[in-house]
Amino acid sequence: MWESDGGLLARVDKTKMPRHVAIIMDGNGRWANCRGLLRSAGHTAGVKTLKKILKTAVNLKLEALTVYAFSTENWKRPHSEVDFLMHLFSDYLEREKLEMHQNNVRIKFLGRTEDFSPALQKLMHESAELMKNNTGVKFNVAADYGGQDEIIRAAQKLARRVQSGEILPEEISEKIFDDELDTFGQPPVDLLIRTSGELRISNFLLWQAAYAEFWFTDTPWPEFTPEEFIDALIDFGKRSRRFGALNN
Ligand code: IPE
Ligand code: IPE
Ligand code: MG
Repeated sequence: MWESDGGLLARVDKTKMPRHVAIIMDGNGRWANCRGLLRSAGHTAGVKTLKKILKTAVNLKLEALTVYAFSTENWKRPHSEVDFLMHLFSDYLEREKLEMHQNNVRIKFLGRTEDFSPALQKLMHESAELMKNNTGVKFNVAADYGGQDEIIRAAQKLARRVQSGEILPEEISEKIFDDELDTFGQPPVDLLIRTSGELRISNFLLWQAAYAEFWFTDTPWPEFTPEEFIDALIDFGKRSRRFGALNN
């Protein structure tokens, strides 16, 4: 089992915790370049950060953690970088899946899968199957994921259901639409964190983040720590969320 740093966790008011935290893990390449390293070294360092943050999420008993690992646009990068990221992703799953399982994590993948190698698709499928009945943190890894692509795939599934006569167009509600998304059954994003100073959403969880609170930091992902993660959660606890209504 992953041990918890009680002192660190005690800083969080459990009654003000977000249910679903999403993270755009950005800045690996710049972090590495600043140190005279290759971008790939930044990605390797980024995986270490991810392990620490998942562990913290487990110890905090967070309901859902979604991380942006590879976007539908990231295929535009040089072949060598894409190839490195695919190997890193597969090594990560191979090495970590049992420990995640022992910690009751339920991994799920958001996004397309068909452009990944058959071996990686098999590993993703096996990892998700292994953990499908776990009841701890819902750990969503967005890989070959784009919010627009996800919405289009949901629209296509609904169009087929209409075409087959299963539902009428006017029956399509937010709930029915939500159930066709890759995140079906999970709460909407409460807190969206982006590291490394960029102030944009980059096609991440466009539907699910409709009322998310945003938290940006200049810290590059390889330097992001459980302490800073907790800072974001504490700051979230101080926000006034109105959802379009007024405070009482
Ligand atoms: C995030 O870091 C990881 C991925 C997109 C895969 P980047 O690779 O985007 O690093 P920067 O933003 O170029 O520094
Ligand atoms: C978003 O980061 C994707 C991931 C973190 C996986 P990018 O680095 O690809 O986003 P842009 O290009 O700066 O918007
Ligand atoms: Mg980036």
